[in-house]
Amino acid sequence: MSFLYSKSSIEDLKERVNIVDVVGRVVPLKRSGSNFKGRCPFHNEKTPSFVVSEQKQIFTCFGCGATGNVFEFMKRYYNLEYIEAVEKLADEYGITLEKRRRDDRRDRYYEVNRLAAGFFYKAFTEKANRGYSYMKRRGITPPVLKKFGIGYADAEWTSLVDYMNSQGIDNKILIELGLAAETNGRVYDKFRNRVMFPIINTSGKVIGFGGRAISPEDNPKYLNSPENIVFKKKNNLYGLNISRQSVGKDGFIILVEGYMDVIALYQSGVHNVTASLGTALTENQASLIKRYTDSVVLSYDADSAGRNAALRGMDILKNAGCRVRVLHVDDGKDPDEFIKKNGKDAFMKLIDGALPYGDYKLEAAKAGLDLSSNEGRIDYVKRASNIISTMSPVERDIYISKAAKEAGVSESAVRMELSPEGETIAGGSLKPADRGRDHEEKTSDEPDVIMGRDRDLLTLAMRRERYIDTISTMTEIFAMETSARIFEAIERDYREHGELDEHRVMDSLSDSDRGLLREACESTPYYEDEEKVFRDCMRDWKLSALVAEEEKIITMLSLADESDDDEKLKTLMERLKIIQTDIQKERNLG
Ligand code: UTP
Ligand code: MN
Repeated sequence: MSFLYSKSSIEDLKERVNIVDVVGRVVPLKRSGSNFKGRCPFHNEKTPSFVVSEQKQIFTCFGCGATGNVFEFMKRYYNLEYIEAVEKLADEYGITLEKRRRDDRRDRYYEVNRLAAGFFYKAFTEKANRGYSYMKRRGITPPVLKKFGIGYADAEWTSLVDYMNSQGIDNKILIELGLAAETNGRVYDKFRNRVMFPIINTSGKVIGFGGRAISPEDNPKYLNSPENIVFKKKNNLYGLNISRQSVGKDGFIILVEGYMDVIALYQSGVHNVTASLGTALTENQASLIKRYTDSVVLSYDADSAGRNAALRGMDILKNAGCRVRVLHVDDGKDPDEFIKKNGKDAFMKLIDGALPYGDYKLEAAKAGLDLSSNEGRIDYVKRASNIISTMSPVERDIYISKAAKEAGVSESAVRMELSPEGETIAGGSLKPADRGRDHEEKTSDEPDVIMGRDRDLLTLAMRRERYIDTISTMTEIFAMETSARIFEAIERDYREHGELDEHRVMDSLSDSDRGLLREACESTPYYEDEEKVFRDCMRDWKLSALVAEEEKIITMLSLADESDDDEKLKTLMERLKIIQTDIQKERNLG
């Protein structure tokens, strides 16, 4: 995000430059249909799979998945920050960007937060209090408490409000910042009897607070500032104001779940650590990290919530261009407990052994499968190939071999399971049948990520509402219940309002569905020929239904073979013939 230039002047710039020219200066492009093609500058390739669409003003590489608009191209090609990319382009085109007026209101809010942090800090340090005893009991030393600006909100109802009023700050701003609340005309402190963690952005501004309950009966455990004009959870990370200084030297950053994890690791001498703010990692947080380092170690809790968060976080970081590895502590529930018990060196050992993206995903794919059974191995290979299909060619090679070994099958079997380049099914004789079975094996388990046909269909529906009607007529087209449910929400929005609004749809979803849909949309490339992708999905679905039907009839025939009901046999044979003709027809279309 730019806070420097007005949005409209950046939009203007984007309108005035042509991505084909910008890319064309550095990448030789050839016209190909309505698009331009060349060799991708972001990965090594011999045959061009880098496509620039003049119409849509975007680039997409079908080899490595890089995609984006002209600013994204500048960012990646010249290794720039977003705002630098904008400036460079403006400069090259001789366009002056219009500066954005600074918002004075924001300064006022920062100032009030800073005053509050000072007030809490004073209460924490100047006399005995429950907050200080609590943090002491948790083993945090005074210099570290000071470094993080830890404070205490006392148990009274109006301490902060009274103080702020005495400083001439009115209640309205306190309420907006979530420091106070109002009920029946009475204004009172929101944070009471809590240890206060000021959340400070990388420019050193206090943007909000996390307040930890001291009494076990107080809920929630952590009370956080609400979203407001200076506190945007999705754009910030806890502790990055401190850790950014050591990240460069360490060459990577450790991402943890909690405030206390950050502080405990810091105290043990692990300074390159930061935490997302009690929510799933966002794209913006990933690009914030990317400013300081492109190497991330995720260290989330070992429970299933932590594992799922890690799986999603990895994809988000990978999409942002980071290398990601994952570890789960094997002693204690979180890094805080682990490092207190085992010390820094033990934690650094865990970091050395953290699993890279592919290994972690393949490992997670084993969940719930029995690899000693054929069923389990088949399912594993399927899951694995879904994962591998998102990788670059070199990674593919490595992980095909790993997955094959794990499943005890040949590498070529895994390769065959991976759909042939670019095509969805093209002649894959076994695939549709497998898909057909997937239909029946629909599980109610929540997936970590939506892939394959489900992903394409949901994304296409979000991008082009005209697909919604067609999809809605196709019963059981989604392999997963989750995708079907998300599609229902898309369809509902579309029907209720006569048009689709991306934000409204997102808002109508549960947190986890929203995360899945967002991830699906973000990981789906802007297809050069959407129509074809859509048609392939449809054909794929039709074919799998037909093949399932074919199988059913064959089974019935083999069972019926000794029975005397000639009439029934004849009907089945006829039905089989029709279906097989249809299957042939569908395959030939592909
Ligand atoms: P955890 O419950 O794992 O807490 O939540 P923790 O960090 O281990 O806390 P301690 O050690 O018991 O003090 C992880 C993170 O999730 C957010 C906070 O950011 C917390 O650090 N969270 C958790 C909330 O925002 N609200 C809550 O009620 C609980
Ligand atoms: Mn903890």
